[in-house]
Amino acid sequence: MATVTLNKLGKRFGALVALEALDLAIEDGEFLVLLGPSGCGKTTTMRMIAGLEEPTSGDILIDGTRVNGIHARDRDLAMVFQNYALYPHMTVGENIGYPLKVRGVDRAERLRKVEAAAAQVELSGLLLRRPAELSGGQRQRVALARAIVRTPRLFLMDEPLSNLDAKLRTVMRAELKHLQQSLGTTTIYVTHDQVEAMTLADRIVVLHEARIQQVGTPHEVYTRPANTFVAGFIGSPPMNLLAGEIRDGAFRHAAGTVPLAAAPRGEVVLGARPEDLALAAPADAHLTGTVFSSELLGDSTLVNVAIGDGLVAVKVGPDEGQRVGAAIGVRVAPAKTHLFAAEGGRRLETQP
Ligand SMILES: Nc1ncnc2c1ncn2[C@@H]1O[C@H](COP(=O)(O)OP(=O)(O)OP(=O)(O)O)[C@@H](O)[C@H]1O
Ligand SMILES: [Mg+2]
Repeated sequence: MATVTLNKLGKRFGALVALEALDLAIEDGEFLVLLGPSGCGKTTTMRMIAGLEEPTSGDILIDGTRVNGIHARDRDLAMVFQNYALYPHMTVGENIGYPLKVRGVDRAERLRKVEAAAAQVELSGLLLRRPAELSGGQRQRVALARAIVRTPRLFLMDEPLSNLDAKLRTVMRAELKHLQQSLGTTTIYVTHDQVEAMTLADRIVVLHEARIQQVGTPHEVYTRPANTFVAGFIGSPPMNLLAGEIRDGAFRHAAGTVPLAAAPRGEVVLGARPEDLALAAPADAHLTGTVFSSELLGDSTLVNVAIGDGLVAVKVGPDEGQRVGAAIGVRVAPAKTHLFAAEGGRRLETQP
């Protein structure tokens, strides 16, 4: 187990800034997820922690010791990357045991540890097969077993589930979370999938354009997004964002008015999650529009309402489907709204 501290960690590739001075302290045993869209600097950050890429600026400390310049092999961490990089000519057992073999662990102990690691990811019956004879999910588990066989002090995982189909991903996600909790090994995990981040993380770091947007528990990031980028990135579908103006205690938009207590004045962006909105007859609603689409999701229905020149997503009950093109109203619970600055999108903390 280990703590990891990043001090003003930065990386440039020529003129391109891949990561801007990043400050972060990762606790012992923590499951930390780096979340952000493609190109925001996630893999670059991981590769620097792993020792595969030299930082342009700043320091990396593992257990309080600066590791800049120390070879990847000597940092005592295990990596699982998107392409599992298994050795095709080795059996599953040999693949899992390889990190022990290169460290000179004797054969008997190696076998014992390989069997234990394989059992943890439910691969016990497959140790003699070769990677080509496995499904994608089984290969993924071989890569995981190879990471855990050595009980390193730190796991680095970069989109390790991205090659799996949706169902297997959900299963492996639960297995991974369970495994990490039972091992208690500090884990840094990269994904662009916000559901994966929400379900796995103790804390999420949202990255965008080489900078941290927010650090918080999944609950904090979901319920109090720090800016419009985080609000529009987290949640499925994400938070609705409406630009308008606050005047005389109400948010005013071309499509209607939402009364707000103790609100600031001027131009703002109003945010509301789909599950915090309700449909109503146009005469009883805060905002009015027409039904753009109505999708039954099983346990709920997602209704997209065309309001002004945008769409507002409303999550309602499974029996509340709507006819496309119908005139409809949207009710907003004022206490469940979020306000952001029109300029720059920063969260405004003036809500009651
Ligand atoms: N070796 C390199 N040389 C030049 N530019 C690079 C190099 N590696 C990464 N970059 C650039 O740095 C930025 C961050 O890349 P990075 O791989 O960290 O993104 P990412 O967040 O992992 O994205 P993805 O979700 O697509 O994997 C990108 O603009 C990328 O093009
Ligand atoms: Mg990447």
